[in-house]
Amino acid sequence: MNENPAGRTHNCGELRAKDSGSKALLFGWVHGIRDHGGVIFIDLRDRYGLTQVVVHPENVSKETLELSRSFKSEFVVRVGGIVKTRPAQMINPELPTGEIEVVADEVELLNQSKTPPFQVEDQVDVGEELRLKFRYLDLRKPSIKDVIVFRHKVAFLVRKFLDGKKFLEIETPILVRPTPEGARDYLVPSRVSPGKFYALPQSPQLYKQLLMVSGFDRYFQIARCLRDEDLRADRQPEHTQIDIEMSFVTVDDVFSLVEEMFKTIFGELFGIDLKTPFLRLSYADSLARFGTDKPDIRFGYEISDVTDEMKRSSFEAFKKVIEAGGEAKALVCKGVGSLSRRELDELTELVKASGGKGLASARVSGGSLEGGMKKFVTPDLEQALVARFALGDGDVVLFTADKREAALKSLGTVRSALGKRALKEREKFSFVWIKDFPIFQWNEDRKAWEPEHHLFCMPDDDSIDRIEKDPGSATGKIYDLVLNGVELGSGSIRVHNRKLQERIMAVAGISRDEAEKRFGFLLEALDYGAPPHGGIALGLDRIVMIMTGRETIRDTIAFPKTQKASSLVDGSPAEVDEKELNELHIRIVE
Ligand code: AMO
Ligand code: AMP
Repeated sequence: MNENPAGRTHNCGELRAKDSGSKALLFGWVHGIRDHGGVIFIDLRDRYGLTQVVVHPENVSKETLELSRSFKSEFVVRVGGIVKTRPAQMINPELPTGEIEVVADEVELLNQSKTPPFQVEDQVDVGEELRLKFRYLDLRKPSIKDVIVFRHKVAFLVRKFLDGKKFLEIETPILVRPTPEGARDYLVPSRVSPGKFYALPQSPQLYKQLLMVSGFDRYFQIARCLRDEDLRADRQPEHTQIDIEMSFVTVDDVFSLVEEMFKTIFGELFGIDLKTPFLRLSYADSLARFGTDKPDIRFGYEISDVTDEMKRSSFEAFKKVIEAGGEAKALVCKGVGSLSRRELDELTELVKASGGKGLASARVSGGSLEGGMKKFVTPDLEQALVARFALGDGDVVLFTADKREAALKSLGTVRSALGKRALKEREKFSFVWIKDFPIFQWNEDRKAWEPEHHLFCMPDDDSIDRIEKDPGSATGKIYDLVLNGVELGSGSIRVHNRKLQERIMAVAGISRDEAEKRFGFLLEALDYGAPPHGGIALGLDRIVMIMTGRETIRDTIAFPKTQKASSLVDGSPAEVDEKELNELHIRIVE
């Protein structure tokens, strides 16, 4: 075996008919091998593609022929030969290199491979656990590899774009002071300071604000963020943010920068001319119309208030809720097609499982209503509903009555569950900014006000005076970017005034002492000429997930963690030696 191969002339994806006659030296993995009456065909694969190699007894020694015949899948080989166009009937139009083959005159084995635990083939169905354990083999599959390549391109374009806008990429520390930002911290014990811990950063938030105080003016970082939270398809313990901060900007400045960045990315990678500016919705409108702050606006299905109508119905369950101060809401699903009894039951269960009261339905047929609601509405009321929502045959209306926000969220849940069937144009990309978020939300369990985003967001001018008196009604210069129902990013204009920052912390139940202890370094920095500033962080994993049509961000990460936050490829987290624990002054309590 040759330990130091050299002289690669081409990769396995680039030879074409025009190269016919040239010499080629290829390196790659044996993807498949066939013996056709003594002539051996090898599909040679590397990251760039597949090339067919022909080992013919006329062109090579007996030993080389025998060696080639012994090759198995995933052996690593080096092949030298002449590029030939294939006979017409042998051309493979499915393969970019399908017009040619390399007729080998030398073949060398560089390394063997055990039989892989699964075939390196997109079409072969393999359990995710095995795939993640042998992730390095999984990454050889074209469809998996392509996402990683795509991710690189997105990150590269982001850097190029932001550099062109005078942004500086600045690294912020990975070992930071534990200052929880919403999720639980991953902690790192200090060896030299017994009993003390660093945290891994949940985001560079405080450091990017300090950089604004430093005068760097325009910062970005493609930053790894670590959060010990419950995992879902779009959540990993390690994720990557395109983290951006700018001084002397308004909300609109942040919006147009991000819009132009996405326009560039979609233009370069898909040749799509994204329409900008993106739609903008206030948080209140988004909730009222779509029942969520992450609306998928690729399809209609909007929510309307039907409290007045339902007062006139004979539906006692609804009337009781309304008398107690609740509201009745309707989700109008135009052209949803038939919803079976079972589907309706499932939707009702979904609503109840998320704490809602239930779901009543009506479907339109021959200009009148059918289904559960029918018996509760008079003909007058029925016609009023048909006219108000311009209902036609086949439309379905889903009703719920509850406290206002609960009713909206119930129908929001139903709406997104129905989205899959409502979507006709899956490839479409619908961006929407959600803005004017409340600053605080009430946490019923803790009986305390909590920041809706984080502690550092600037209230709207007309809300500043009432953050103490009426925290629930205060809104801020806070925004999210949502793409196809997924929260891509989140940001705000920040507080740059120490007094105001302390007031917000006080409303959030953080005492002066605690504020000093946890955030003293930020508060102090605000005293030294902090400029007005704001920014955003966009989830790179989620961007790549949506752009590549994947269902989970695990597919966009080279070495992702499982739902239980473990890495199957290296077996982390893992136990450590007693000696190491002692050095860290840590004892494990069984
Ligand atoms: P936030 O916590 O909303 O804001 O995060 C910003 C974006 O990062 C992505 N994201 C995640 N992606 C995958 N897995 C996770 N566990 C995960 N958590 C977040 C999402 C999200 O929109 N410092 C603020 C930003 C700012 O105000 O500038 C922050 O971190 O796409
Ligand atoms: P009940 O009369 O409580 O058995 O409810 C009859 C039907 O109405 C069930 O399908 C419930 O899911 C639905 N329902 C009851 N209360 C509500 C409500 N507040 N909002 C929506 N649907 C409801």
